[in-house]
Amino acid sequence: MRTKIVAGNWKMNNNYEDSIKLAKDIESKAANLNLNNTRVIVAPTFVNLKGVKDSLGNASVEVVAQNMHQAKNGAYTGEISAEMLQSIGIKTVILGHSERRTYFNETDEALAEKINTVLENNMEAIFCFGEVLEDRKSDNHFNVVESQIKKALFHLKDADWKSIVLAYEPVWAIGTGETASPEQAQDMHAFIRNLVASKYGDAIADNVSILYGGSVKPSNAQEIFSKPDVDGGLIGGAALNVDDFMGIITAAANL
Ligand code: 13P
Repeated sequence: MRTKIVAGNWKMNNNYEDSIKLAKDIESKAANLNLNNTRVIVAPTFVNLKGVKDSLGNASVEVVAQNMHQAKNGAYTGEISAEMLQSIGIKTVILGHSERRTYFNETDEALAEKINTVLENNMEAIFCFGEVLEDRKSDNHFNVVESQIKKALFHLKDADWKSIVLAYEPVWAIGTGETASPEQAQDMHAFIRNLVASKYGDAIADNVSILYGGSVKPSNAQEIFSKPDVDGGLIGGAALNVDDFMGIITAAANL
């Protein structure tokens, strides 16, 4: 059985104190919910990771990083390594977010290396991908997503897939208020699962969690999450407001 996940990607938002307050508010509200095996994740920016992690009392809210460098260590000014993350107890990292690809030129090749580094360090990756609007309009979205997944992940061994979470984030839906319809999300998620199955078999494909991201809100979460191949969400703007985020978590937990 694959796991339901609701992950809040805080991006470059929230100073130190705000981050801790938001995380603690989420934790205390989550304690009153039946999470029904839903993983609740927050991803503060690097400088706030340890403070947020230390402020949380138990494992009901996981703290993950938004990015990581692929090299073990060395002359990479401004970058953060897997070992550094692990030294403060961070075990999961978001990789390949469209903002990283677009603004920081992260290539499929670099992402394949980052995935390898995650695996070598026994960490977990939430691997993001998705098409831009022109690809969707020209009906090229399945090809784009297939290429992104193949280039970054199709060198993996079967056993590696237990450390991978997939996150489909159509770029045109990120921060725009425009959401993929539940049917568009389901069509793509089914395509992704079939793609993984075509190389790795049904058991691995059935077990990988595939999250949807892009303008998820409490008002649309339930309909999107109820689709059979959607296993939760990667949430941006709505993850910065405790009530909105709890609404989205509740939608996943109720399934
Ligand atoms: P929004 O929920 O703000 O559209 O952002 C989605 C996202 O990029 C999560 O990683």
